Amino acid sequence: MYNAMLAIHSWTRWVVLVAAVAALVNAARSLGAPDSDAKLPGRLYDTLFMASMDLQLLFGLLLYFGLSPFTKEAMSNIGSVMSTSQLRFWSIEHPFGMLVAIVFVRVGRITSGNAATPASARKKRLVWFALALLVVLVSIPWPGLPNGRPLFRLGE
Ligand code: HEM
Repeated sequence: MYNAMLAIHSWTRWVVLVAAVAALVNAARSLGAPDSDAKLPGRLYDTLFMASMDLQLLFGLLLYFGLSPFTKEAMSNIGSVMSTSQLRFWSIEHPFGMLVAIVFVRVGRITSGNAATPASARKKRLVWFALALLVVLVSIPWPGLPNGRPLFRLGE
């Protein structure tokens, strides 16, 4: 079960990244759209980006509170979390970074939806989504980093 969920969480990362890039490109292109167009053209991209992040959050929570041996060890041995790089990364750094990114996407959706003019709505959407993608990129355990993982997890 652990290996299956880890593989699903690993592959969903690519869904998140594709959805994030699509939403960003759409947000950037909408900056040049005339004011007479919809306030936020291509909102479907925003929804897909948010939904992919929410799905990844769900899988992450299952790993965090049920399946991952790293978070299990962290919870049973809280005193050693900060001094052990692996435990610190999986129990604090990775989830915290991703939660911040999820909040950024939400803030982008809400503040752009409430903005007074199309121009400021489109700018807010672009800025918050760009920040969210940046935080996701920084929080992913890329191969070669101290807690790196494979790009494409195949079985085990
Ligand atoms: C956009 C959001 C996220 C992305 C892109 C992401 C990405 C990843 C990746 C690529 C891995 C490594 C998978 C592998 O070993 O092949 C991983 C592992 C993990 N993630 Fe996430 N993650 C996200 C959100 C979260 C959240 C919100 C949590 C916690 C609430 C979380 C908890 C974990 C845990 C516990 C592991 C596994 C550690 C282990 O037992 O090996 N992730 N994540």
